Amino acid sequence: MRSSHQILLATLNPHKFQEFQSLMAQFPEIELIRADRLLRNAENLGHAEQHSTYLENAIAKARLANKAAHYPSLADDSGLEVEALEGRPGIRSHRYASPQAQLSQDQSNLELLLSEMKSTSNRSARFVCALALIIEGVLIHATGTLEGALLEAPRGTHGFGYDPIFVPKDSTLTLAEMTSNQKNEISHRSKAIEALMKQVKAYGINFVKP
Ligand code: IMP
Repeated sequence: MRSSHQILLATLNPHKFQEFQSLMAQFPEIELIRADRLLRNAENLGHAEQHSTYLENAIAKARLANKAAHYPSLADDSGLEVEALEGRPGIRSHRYASPQAQLSQDQSNLELLLSEMKSTSNRSARFVCALALIIEGVLIHATGTLEGALLEAPRGTHGFGYDPIFVPKDSTLTLAEMTSNQKNEISHRSKAIEALMKQVKAYGINFVKP
């Protein structure tokens, strides 16, 4: 039996941190720590995203954070896969419109995608999230997906990234029209967390708040 209560979240994206915080609220014994509070060269996390799969990227970021901060470290890598574009932007979702990948790039990524999808009738797409957790020398990983379709124009102001044009299967709202609770009930990230935490439990890892 091992025990711990703090996990470093290896992201510099404040939207993602917020989303993870509300997703992890169901585990009140766990405290998430922001990467910029513990990592001196946190911008190096972006350089770890050079692999060809979400999972490899998530593992690379978790390893980097764990090595630098000596804290249990959780990292994700996610993206939007569009059927008509043969899975693009996929692993490049964050850097779609420009390789610089600024946080302020969400709008230009979205506009580029809409222009690529102009007059395309197949609007099917899915979000994918891979998670990697390194804790006490153990690597645990999990993946979650969310199927849906793309609109031709954005709707809604919540969330981030491609949320305003993504309507999940069995919904009439875009992710950006949902409350964060509604999104968190169905999202690729919440499914990945659920699968990850099941494995954490199976490993006998305990989170105990001091
Ligand atoms: P990364 O995981 O930091 O590489 O970023 C993945 C990119 O995929 C984000 O910058 C968004 O553009 C997109 N993305 C991933 N998850 C979501 C989501 O839940 N909503 C909207 N866009 C997302």
